[in-house]
Amino acid sequence: MNRDAERLIRDSWLRVVPIRLTAAQLFYDRLFEIDPSAKALFDGKPMHVQYEKFAQTINTLVQMLDFPANIIDDLQALARRHVGYGVNLEQYASVGAALLWALERGLGSEWTPEVKRAWGELYLFIEGVMKREVSGSPTR
Ligand code: HEM
Repeated sequence: MNRDAERLIRDSWLRVVPIRLTAAQLFYDRLFEIDPSAKALFDGKPMHVQYEKFAQTINTLVQMLDFPANIIDDLQALARRHVGYGVNLEQYASVGAALLWALERGLGSEWTPEVKRAWGELYLFIEGVMKREVSGSPTR
């Protein structure tokens, strides 16, 4: 990821931080709408706890953009835990789509094509590391 993309992610994330729980709620609502198989995995879970955890993880990833090598171990461990939660590889695409959708809603007019591209790139990186860890090779 180049410096411009990093800056776009940092700047746009700063706008989301104050509304991160609302953005997380938008994200999960959207995810459950587009992928009922994902909804089933969260049945009976306290979602407000999940909003905070998901937002915190994205926050950490944004802080570590300069040093992606340092977060690979954490992402790999996260991916292994997700196997235990019953998550399958196809659901990563749904999560990516819902994440970009929620960021678009949260950022409004600041969601430019460049910002969209930068977040898409970041998600591909996260998804790639996580999927490789649990499948041996990326599925797409
Ligand atoms: C960018 C990729 C993802 C990130 C950053 C992420 C983040 C997290 C975090 C931080 C947790 C808290 C528990 C832990 O740390 O192990 C969690 C739990 C969970 N995630 Fe994800 N996740 C991702 C992808 C997915 C996908 C693709 C699914 C599929 C629907 C999913 C479903 C779940 C479920 C079911 C739990 C457990 C909830 C519970 O049992 O309380 N996640 N996720």
